[in-house]
Parts: sequence; C-alpha cells; structure tokens
Amino acid sequence: MSQSMSAGSSLAVIVMAAGKGTRLKTKRPKVLHQIGDKPLVEYVIAAASRLVKPENIFVVIGHEAESVRAAVAHLGVRFVEQLNPQGTGHAVQCAHEAIKDYDDVLVLSGDVPLIRPKTLEEIVGFHSTQHAAMTVLTAVPPNPFGYGRIVRESPESPVIASIVEQKALAHGQEIDEINSGMYAFRVAPLLKYLDELSAENAHGEYYLTDIAGILRAAGQRVVAVKATDAEEVLGANTIAEMMALDAKQNAAKVAQLMDQGVTIYRPETCVIDPDVEVGRDTVLEPFVQLRGRTKIGQGTRVRSFTVIENCRVGDHVLILQSCVMEDSSVENGARIGPFARMRPGSEIGPEAHVGNFVETKKAKLGRGAKANHLTYLGDAEVGEGTNIGAGTITCNYDGTHKYLTRIGKGVFVGSDTTLVAPISVEDGAYIGAASCITKGVPAGALAVSRAPQTTKEGWVEARKARRQKPAE
Ligand code: UD1
Ligand code: MG
Repeated sequence: MSQSMSAGSSLAVIVMAAGKGTRLKTKRPKVLHQIGDKPLVEYVIAAASRLVKPENIFVVIGHEAESVRAAVAHLGVRFVEQLNPQGTGHAVQCAHEAIKDYDDVLVLSGDVPLIRPKTLEEIVGFHSTQHAAMTVLTAVPPNPFGYGRIVRESPESPVIASIVEQKALAHGQEIDEINSGMYAFRVAPLLKYLDELSAENAHGEYYLTDIAGILRAAGQRVVAVKATDAEEVLGANTIAEMMALDAKQNAAKVAQLMDQGVTIYRPETCVIDPDVEVGRDTVLEPFVQLRGRTKIGQGTRVRSFTVIENCRVGDHVLILQSCVMEDSSVENGARIGPFARMRPGSEIGPEAHVGNFVETKKAKLGRGAKANHLTYLGDAEVGEGTNIGAGTITCNYDGTHKYLTRIGKGVFVGSDTTLVAPISVEDGAYIGAASCITKGVPAGALAVSRAPQTTKEGWVEARKARRQKPAE
C-alpha cells in the first residue's frame, strides 16, 4: 500500500461525518448507524487507513460530535470540529488548518461504507496521472435519484464542467452519472478557491460540489473517474438504504465463506459480520448469526437460531439450536445446547458438554466435563470428567460480592445441588442430590446435606377416613 501519492508528495484524508442525517428521522447521528457490527463511518476510516496512517485522517465532527468522537477515537484518527454544520463545503473549510501542509487531500463521505481501499487508490492514482486540481469519483447506478450529477465537457474527455445537485437539475434534465461524494484535490487550489463557495441554494448550505465549477472557471483541471462497481459508492441517506447496504455486505460475506468451503444453508437468513472467520467443512444452518470477532474452526456444525458473538469455537464442535454465546471459548469436540446461554468468560474444554437450559458465566469446564441440564455455573471451575447433575446452581453472589466455586476432577455433583461460594470440592468427591453445600468437600468424600425423609405408612387412607367422618 502506498503511504502517499508519489515519492515526496503527502496525502491527507478528510472524512466528513458532521452532518445530521435529517432524512433518517432518528436521534442517532447517521454515521453512527451500524451495518454489520460497525458504524458506517468506521468502514470509511478503515478503507482510508489502508492508504495513509491514521494520524493523517481528519474526521470532521459536528452533530453529536462527542458521540462520534468516542465511537472512532480508538482508530487513532484526528478530529476537526464543525460544530455548526452548514454543508459539505463548510466541512472542508473547517479542515483548512489541518490539511494546509499536505500536497493532496482525499475527501470522503462518512456515509458511504462499502467503499474499497482499491477504489480509493484508483482515485488517487488517476488524480496523480491526470495532474488534476480535483478528481471526482463517479458511478452510474440503476437509480441516480437524489445524487449530485456530473456534467461532462464531452463524453470522451475525463474533464468535467460541474456537479449539479438533484434539486438544482433543470426540469427534464437527465444525467445518469452521479457524484459519489468522494474526491481527490490538490490542496493549494482547493484552499485558494474554497472561500468562494456560496450558500445560495435550495438548502442554504455550502455545497462542496460547487467547487468543481469554481475550479473549472478558474482554468483548473477537474476530472472524473468512474467506479467499476456502482454499488460500492452508494450512500445511505435513509434507513431503508442503509439496510440495503447491510444486506449487500452480508451477502458478500456469506459468499466469501462458501467460497472457502463453508456450507451455509439458506445463506440469506444468516447474519455474519465482516471480521468473522469460519473454517472449511463447517456447516451453518439457517438463521445462524455470527457476530463481532467470532472465529470458528473446521468441521463444526452450528444449528439454527444460534447467536454467537466474539467467541472462539474449535474444530468438530456441535452447537445445537438456539444457543446464545458471548465472549467465550469452546474447545474441539465439545457439544453445546440446545438453549444454552454462555455469558462472557466461559471456557468450555475439549469434548465437554453444556446442555439445555444451562447458563455459564466466567466458568471454566475441563476436558469432558458435563453440565447437561438446567444449571447455572457462574465464577466456577469444573475439573476434567466431572459430572454436574441437573438443576445444579453455584450461588456465587451474596448481594455484594462474587465468589468462586472450585470443583475438582472426576467429581459427581448430584442433581439439584446448590454450592454456596466461596467453596471447593476436591477431586473425586461425591455430592448427594438436593444438597446445599456450604463447607468444602475433601477428595474422595461423600457430602450430603438434606433433611431426613419422613415416611408415614398408610397416611393417605387414614386422611381419607378422617375427612369422610360427618361433622358433629
Ligand atoms: C452528497 C453530495 C452529492 C453526492 C452524495 C453522494 C454535496 C452537496 N452533495 O450529497 O453530490 O451525490 O453526497 O453520497 O456534497 N457532512 C458534514 N458536514 C455538513 C454536511 C454533511 O460533515 O455540514 C457529512 C455528512 O455527515 C455525510 C457527508 O458529509 O457523511 C455527506 O453529506 P450528505 O448530507 O449525506 O450529502 P448528500 O445529500 O448525500
Ligand atoms: Mg449522503
């Protein structure tokens, strides 16, 4: 990847993310709406980061500036404030100081998430070989409505005369080539003419698009380059458009995984985030969701309606229907579900079983350990080969603090046991069913704590007889 356009020239990137997104009708700023697992603006920054170091990326923030800043600060970018956003031209004006010492600047919209780094390189490359003052990335989408349109000087020449916004199109004027809202500029002419923008238009805003005509009138070279794939430059101005981009991205992700040997039944029903990895020969059934940074091994099967977020799952694991798993890990050959809930910090060992209606949180299960039914294991360690009976509960919380339950190897915990933490049950111990265990259990011991059973022979008949006796 090139760090700059050519030897000796420097490139900055402006990502415009200060707009309100009025057309969305939501309180949340547009660029923080998500497709996949990330806000729109993060995709744009990620693409730009393949061309320049993050400290050369200036994100223009204004509407809900602090929430936008907080959402992307971890990416190492810098910020420019446009606290009173008055249009895309004004956004770039606000970045004047930030970019003035660079040779060139790539200006991107924060609401065009599918843009690929390769396309950005193409704009920058074309801009450089054309010796242009301004290069516009354009496209010819099936429906150009709503976009700014490109007025070419002639069909053959890359030179354009101006960009005309939808509302300013003359009645009946039809142009199918649209402005993607992404541009490369030589910084010197851009800054020289930027103050000539006027806000005398339908929205009373400073349109960056007007700079094309201004530069052209000043005798500068303004060119356009068409994106090979119109779909990647589509903006998201409404929730419906955003969801269309989300579907498009998801379709590309499932296609890529299938291409790598993953079987995905009814792929259109599965939701798979961009950073997810899945090994070959793994099978995903309909309506599976793999979110965040989930990584799944080979030959694993995930059955329908399971949602896995930020988990690492090994090879040949079977995850049955309707499990919800978060920030956890599952080793090779384990079996999970159906209806298991794995909360953060669960570590399920090789060949271990976590069965129906079992909830785990910060629970570590050793090789072959089993908790097959109706159990809560929170802040717990369960040794290799231990069997946790149905309905077992670790009482890990006293209302103030959380405590650890340690259960050794080869332990048998009878059904309906409560283990009051902090507590330790040593290797090979047995716990009788329905016990409430409050004291440690040594290795090899039997612990049982339940009320002695009372049996009254013939009690039922005797009761019946008492009841049938007429009242005096
Ligand atoms: C813009 C272009 C249009 C192009 C389209 C492509 C203008 C005037 N029009 O229109 O020609 O076809 O993009 O998607 O530029 N923003 C700011 N500060 C502001 C206003 C906007 O930072 O004061 C940001 C927004 O947050 C957004 C981006 O700039 O990320 C584009 O703004 P938006 O309102 O979406 O412009 P469009 O109407 O889509
Ligand atoms: Mg837009």
